[in-house]
Amino acid sequence: MHHAPKPGADPERPTHVVFVGAGAVGCFYASRLHHPTHNIHTSLIARSNYGVLVQDGVRLLTHTFGDYTFVPHAVYPNVPSAASAQKWDYVVVTTKALPDRSDDAALIAPLVGPDTCIVLIQNGVGVEAPYRARFPGNPIVSGVTVISAEQVSPGTVRQNRWTRIHLGGYGNSAALEAGAERQDGELERKSDKRAEQIGDWWTRLGGIRDVEVADEIGLQTVRWHKLCINAAFNPSAVLCGGRGNADMVRDPELRAHLAAVMNEIWSAAPRILGRPFPADLATPDKILKSTERNVGSKPSMLLDWEAGRPMEIEVILGNPVRIARAKGVELPRMQSLYALLKSAQAVREQAKGKL
Ligand SMILES: NC(=O)c1ccc[n+]([C@@H]2O[C@H](COP(=O)([O-])OP(=O)(O)OC[C@H]3O[C@@H](n4cnc5c(N)ncnc54)[C@H](OP(=O)(O)O)[C@@H]3O)[C@@H](O)[C@H]2O)c1
Repeated sequence: MHHAPKPGADPERPTHVVFVGAGAVGCFYASRLHHPTHNIHTSLIARSNYGVLVQDGVRLLTHTFGDYTFVPHAVYPNVPSAASAQKWDYVVVTTKALPDRSDDAALIAPLVGPDTCIVLIQNGVGVEAPYRARFPGNPIVSGVTVISAEQVSPGTVRQNRWTRIHLGGYGNSAALEAGAERQDGELERKSDKRAEQIGDWWTRLGGIRDVEVADEIGLQTVRWHKLCINAAFNPSAVLCGGRGNADMVRDPELRAHLAAVMNEIWSAAPRILGRPFPADLATPDKILKSTERNVGSKPSMLLDWEAGRPMEIEVILGNPVRIARAKGVELPRMQSLYALLKSAQAVREQAKGKL
């Protein structure tokens, strides 16, 4: 029987949510999903900031909700300790998506029971595929957020602006990408229902006003739209020698390059997904114009590069090139960015190894 989502969880049975990846995005969205009076209990699995979080909780400095401290239901130092603590209704993955470095689907496996819903809030495309392959029967919710947040010191997260999050059930988009019709089977229905449920909690209990729940292809459309921005600005900021967003769009040659990358994705995505971008999504031209005002902001990939951290190259460049190619669509500018950035990272890592 189909039940409409309720504002609170089951009063008879607690809902337990665990976030894997207690960074900027994880801490912010976890703090808006912890509602013990509604029987929703949210915990964190932390790594480098475990000591601070277990002692003091998370300090949130937010543009939208003011400043507050979030004390999670529990904080765990790793997956095995969270797995042995209890069963999890939701496992929300908010690590950086680095499939070339770590198989996070394998990482979370001990947390996932037969009814566990996996929620992914990460940039890029194709992030869901390893989870669907490992957990063929579990509901998966795919999430894309537009937020500007950072962990300014261990345990302190600042949200500068925006809280926009799109959620959608993920059945088996790999099959859809290969041209199959969506089956709308049990798995799809279960996943859609969980997307509605968690979106409703964030909206009604967490106070996030711009949560949107999309259908499966609709959500993928949002992912590819966000990719227009990320795949143009992120790698280019590194490869052009380390320049911020506004700085790049004010350089005519770089502006032409950014426009061309965005337009490449803009025209390819409807051919890949079989659905045009909705009319309300910003066009490449609009994105360039609004970026002129975004002075001082640096794309996350540039921050990662400057700090010597791995970059989300595969989900932002490699996966789109491969997914498009499988549909007979070439993305030549994206392929160049992918080849150059991947090589730059490898060369730097080799040099580090030689030190
Ligand atoms: N920040 C934003 O404004 C923003 C906006 C839109 C989308 N996104 C996307 O959201 C995702 C998360 O980004 P973020 O900015 O929140 O990144 P982040 O601040 O670097 O947080 C990632 C967290 O995951 C943890 N982690 C990684 N591997 C782990 C493991 N094996 N076990 C436990 N913890 C682990 C890291 O711990 P350590 O400290 O130990 O490394 C870190 O705390 C990315 O896909 C990003 O592109 C971010």
